[in-house]
Amino acid sequence: MPFTNEDQGRLFQVGPGTPSGDVFRRYWLPVETSANLGGGRGPVVPSAKNPLRIKVLGEHLVLYRDSTGKPGLLGEHCSHRGTSLAYGRVEDDGLRCLYHGWKYDREGACLETPAEPPESNFRLTVKHPAYPCVEVGGLIFAYLGPPAKQPPFPRYPQLFREDGVRVTGKANRFQNSNVFLQTLDNILDVWHREIAHGWYKGRPPIHGIHHGRDGMSPTPIKYEHTPWGACYATLQNTREPGVYEYHETHGVLPCQRSGQPGGSSMNWAVPIDDYSTRWFGVSFHPFDENGKVPRAVYQRMQNDTPSDSGGPFYDGWFEDVGHWWNLGHPLRDGPIWEDEAIMSTQGPEERNRLPDWDRWRLATSDRGLLLMHELWEEQVERVQEGLDPVGIIRGEAAEQLIPIPGELRYVDCDEGMRLFNSTLEERIDARAAQLVRR
Ligand code: FES
Ligand SMILES: [Fe+2]
Repeated sequence: MPFTNEDQGRLFQVGPGTPSGDVFRRYWLPVETSANLGGGRGPVVPSAKNPLRIKVLGEHLVLYRDSTGKPGLLGEHCSHRGTSLAYGRVEDDGLRCLYHGWKYDREGACLETPAEPPESNFRLTVKHPAYPCVEVGGLIFAYLGPPAKQPPFPRYPQLFREDGVRVTGKANRFQNSNVFLQTLDNILDVWHREIAHGWYKGRPPIHGIHHGRDGMSPTPIKYEHTPWGACYATLQNTREPGVYEYHETHGVLPCQRSGQPGGSSMNWAVPIDDYSTRWFGVSFHPFDENGKVPRAVYQRMQNDTPSDSGGPFYDGWFEDVGHWWNLGHPLRDGPIWEDEAIMSTQGPEERNRLPDWDRWRLATSDRGLLLMHELWEEQVERVQEGLDPVGIIRGEAAEQLIPIPGELRYVDCDEGMRLFNSTLEERIDARAAQLVRR
């Protein structure tokens, strides 16, 4: 497939009417955390943070919560003469512009134009840009696409399960890179997990993924297409002889990564604009048979915190990062976010850090990247033909929790190979059965 800067120019933009922007606009995307917006269920007292100015897919928007407790997402600039509605006043049934007091509801209807004569119906001719929102799992999602194509909200278990604890990140991680070219490219990059996140931690690396080492056979790695995108699975060795890590991570389109123990986590890399990305993350840990948070989950949450790294981390670092297990870089002063460093330095400032594909030398280990690119090109075509892109679920099936498999499990070699060799259908069926039992 082509891999040139010219080809990149066709695909990197996320604004309305662009090929990739149109793909993103066929899915529900998280746009803010419930915590940041404030308010919420019950009597709503609009907080000082309300409304919020946000930017998603290159569009300038404001998010607010009216007295029903529901979030509304409107175009930032007033339909009258453009003043930012971020300075508007939240009222019971809408958002009122600071300049001449036009008031809009969550659907973008103009409810009042107080400077117009009382008998005027002019307001009925005004339709302000507004997008539908769904609030679930501590996140506010919006659909920015054509109304006729709006899909049912996807029932990811990480958002909808009630039988455990959910940890929702604060979404404070912003990354100077393009979602499609840099972040999606990285989701199925098996080798960077071993090298970028493994070799530089200031302790002997595990060398869990290799081409044959110390008499061991090469790490089995496989890539597969899925009903939601694509995935990879590995069976890698650990420090403990005879103990293997079965690892399965899914790239869920348009911009999610799903995996971790029991498929517990989902992270969204949402395009702010063509050159920057904001991460949202949720992880869900089911209770054990006694209705308690399993000990292993506590341990894992502790392992994920930087306390064992000895690094100079600031308070709240873990919450900011969510469950990215990045522990810093001993060769640099202080912690870095490895993925941020990896992706935001792939191209020069003058190109807004877009990678310079004309000069890249892709190699055999870049299969995950090529798979994601093929998938994306397919979705661009599908959307241009008016079809749903991959992963959109409609009809009765949309009412079920989505059984995306995904594991990080410590097993012996036989069990590991059994998992590794099981088909995608078997793994999906197993996950579906597990979700039904809950
Ligand atoms: S600019 Fe908003 S009401 Fe006039
Ligand atoms: Fe990474």
